[in-house]
Amino acid sequence: MILDILKYGDPRLEQKADPVADINGQLKELVENMFETMYAAQGIGLAATQVGVLKRLFIMDCSGGKDPEDRYVFINPRIITTEGEVVGEEGCLSLPGIYLKVARPQRIVAAALDMEGREFTVEVTDLAARCVAHEIDHLDGQLMLNRVSPIKRDFAQRKIRKLVKAGQW
Ligand code: NI
Repeated sequence: MILDILKYGDPRLEQKADPVADINGQLKELVENMFETMYAAQGIGLAATQVGVLKRLFIMDCSGGKDPEDRYVFINPRIITTEGEVVGEEGCLSLPGIYLKVARPQRIVAAALDMEGREFTVEVTDLAARCVAHEIDHLDGQLMLNRVSPIKRDFAQRKIRKLVKAGQW
């Protein structure tokens, strides 16, 4: 089932998500629906927060569904180490049409639980590192708008206000 993706302006996007306490059937269904939703929207990452579920969980697939090995579920993720910094253009399914240059770590080592409740550690670089940092930000109620200068933020917010007025948001 394709879920509605919350757009910027919805207060839930700015709330901190709670840890997942139980990996049950309901959570498995949510994850399946999130993958369907993310692929339909042509995204490479989606946080539960973005579909209105304030739980610390996100999915990622930098291959866009082409490589099953790139399919990740991160439950209760945490960053262990980061290294370097890369400024790159970033988008967000909750901010459609908005692209901002955001600084993110070049390399991240993160740990999380998988769907079986087992802890795994993964090292990600470049695009995947950008995605992990972006999605963990969502779980903390942070949007990429908070990661750019006030001038760039104002510019993006003005663009969004225009789209809202035009009924295109
Ligand atoms: Ni996003």
